[in-house]
Amino acid sequence: MFGAHTANMSVEGLPGERHLGYYRERALGGAAMIVVEPVPVHRTAVLTRGNFLHEDDAIVPHFRRITEACHGEGAVMIHQLYHVGQHGDGDNSFEPAWSPSGLPSYHDSDGSHAMSEAEIEEILEAFAQAARRAKDSGFDGIELFAAYNALIDQFWTPWNNRREDRWGGSFENRMRFSTELIGRIRAQVGEDFVVGMAVSMDPEVEVALNIEALQEIVAYHDERGLIDYVTCGTGSYFDFIKIIPPFLMADKLGPPHAEALSRVVKHAKVQAESHIRTPENADYVIASGQADMVSIVRGQIADPHLANKAREGRPEDIRPCISCNRNCWGRRFRDYWISCLINPSAGREFEWGGDRFTPAERPRRILVVGGGPAGMEAARVAASRGHQVTLVEAAPQLGGQFRLAGLQPRRQQILDLIQWYETQLEKLQVKVELNRPLDPDEVAGYGADSVVLATGSQPTGTGFQRAMPQRDSLPGIERGNVWSVEEVMSRAARPGKRVIVLDDGGNWRGCGTAWHLAEQGHEVTIVTPGGMIGRELERTSADIPLRQRLKQLGVAFVTEAAVGEWHGDGATIVSLLDGSESRVDADALVLATPNAAETWLADALAETDTQFHTAGDCVAPREANIAFYEGRKLGLSL
Ligand SMILES: Cc1cc2nc3c(=O)[nH]c(=O)nc-3n(C[C@H](O)[C@H](O)[C@H](O)COP(=O)(O)O)c2cc1C
Ligand code: SF4
Repeated sequence: MFGAHTANMSVEGLPGERHLGYYRERALGGAAMIVVEPVPVHRTAVLTRGNFLHEDDAIVPHFRRITEACHGEGAVMIHQLYHVGQHGDGDNSFEPAWSPSGLPSYHDSDGSHAMSEAEIEEILEAFAQAARRAKDSGFDGIELFAAYNALIDQFWTPWNNRREDRWGGSFENRMRFSTELIGRIRAQVGEDFVVGMAVSMDPEVEVALNIEALQEIVAYHDERGLIDYVTCGTGSYFDFIKIIPPFLMADKLGPPHAEALSRVVKHAKVQAESHIRTPENADYVIASGQADMVSIVRGQIADPHLANKAREGRPEDIRPCISCNRNCWGRRFRDYWISCLINPSAGREFEWGGDRFTPAERPRRILVVGGGPAGMEAARVAASRGHQVTLVEAAPQLGGQFRLAGLQPRRQQILDLIQWYETQLEKLQVKVELNRPLDPDEVAGYGADSVVLATGSQPTGTGFQRAMPQRDSLPGIERGNVWSVEEVMSRAARPGKRVIVLDDGGNWRGCGTAWHLAEQGHEVTIVTPGGMIGRELERTSADIPLRQRLKQLGVAFVTEAAVGEWHGDGATIVSLLDGSESRVDADALVLATPNAAETWLADALAETDTQFHTAGDCVAPREANIAFYEGRKLGLSL
């Protein structure tokens, strides 16, 4: 199944071409059931800029296009309905968040409004009408969002529900809202319509429902025939990072909870979700009886054809999600439409013809120089379209700086992805030449019809810091024992015991290297201009577990600071808050400062008649998502 997730793609509250292309591609790719992202059932339920219109039949014909297209590919279509209760977003809804007892939001610093009897009635009716709209739109069913401490599970949870009327107190009273709700929905949609329920488990949070309580609640709904399936996620608003587990967390996080529900459910189907990732893991969940169904969300964002490739017995062709959260949740976090770091066609299916290729009109000889993400992707796409491609890389292996990222702790999934590229390039008969730096004459003499330069970027070696733009270089850098992240991760550097990592970017480049060094036994201090370590990772939900790991390893954090001078055996640290200076003794300084584009080959070729294209860091040094994007875009245009 392709489980519920907010793709945030609507235009003026309506699903358009972007949504249509996105869902149809997964239906075409073999997803048996698609749970389309939630519609807020009421004006107080609006949560994102991309939310669908609430309480408005205008959505019906637009959704009909999507359900018809996906039905045409054989998928069962379900619509999630949501209201997150006290954790709403007034910046998007311009409404107070409604909740059972007026407790504070864990989405922001706002409080919420305790619903009156009449307001409860209003919400029940809003859910029923949203379900009716889903049926009118051609959906086969709806999924009620009772997960992560949303409105429905707020009524179930004693911590949230402090009511003393018929909606709170005893177990029966706390079940009244969901029971009444489903009754109203059934009255609208009839029996021949799926009603599923999404719940979640967050056992480490004291105030959340524990597993026995959730089992009792799910069994209660199951005994009464209220639900056709239940799907169990991980985490909650109290512990957000477990909802979409980044690579720092174990695989198959959700299935043990699904298994606990399977033990108490007699009628409904049970679905496992959360970090199941691969068909092998899904097989294990089903074969071991943990659940009846499996949802893989990010795995199918990264490869929309995952299900068919698994069915056809070619799992090695599945582009493996790297659990980075960079462009799926990371873009949703910033309220953009979602995409994927390694699959830039996600969200662009309508522009690019899906995650598939049409043959080039005229097959040609293409030379790609540089085997990092941009070069590998450009070569793969060009070869998929029928071109005859040679990929030339100066280093002994493919992957470029992305391979170095894969050597950081717990980032094996990046190396798996590079392995996937090696397999695909071989299958596509791309000629890969490693250890082969090319000079401009060789490029010109190669006689390619098209040349792609994806030569990446390099550390500047200057120690320039964004926080001190008035200095082109770091005073004292010539005293030695200063290394780049790339030198450390490629083992070209031998830093001593005590290391300062100057993390200018607040992302994995610096943080992952600091983690690697700490795991190798170094005493590490991270100095960053940001207000917290891993500032740019907050949007991926990986920053908190990262800081926990670094703390466990004894890494010292120095925030809102810059390196004023390097002394060869320590650094002067400057506070960006009050300009005060302190000294940290260290044997080495490692720089995670901005790289410079590697343009010498492009500059030299520009002096000749050779036509060429550029992609990735050699245009401007950026994160890997843009390199994959530019590689794909260029490959499609050749
Ligand atoms: C961008 C994004 C948005 C999500 N939004 C929702 C949502 O609106 N409703 C929901 O029930 N789950 C949502 N989820 C959680 C997923 O359903 C799923 O539980 C989670 O991604 C873990 O499963 P996976 O490892 O297969 O991706 C979202 C996930 C992602 C990646
Ligand atoms: S952005 Fe990262 S986590 Fe999200 S689907 Fe793509 S590879 Fe997976």
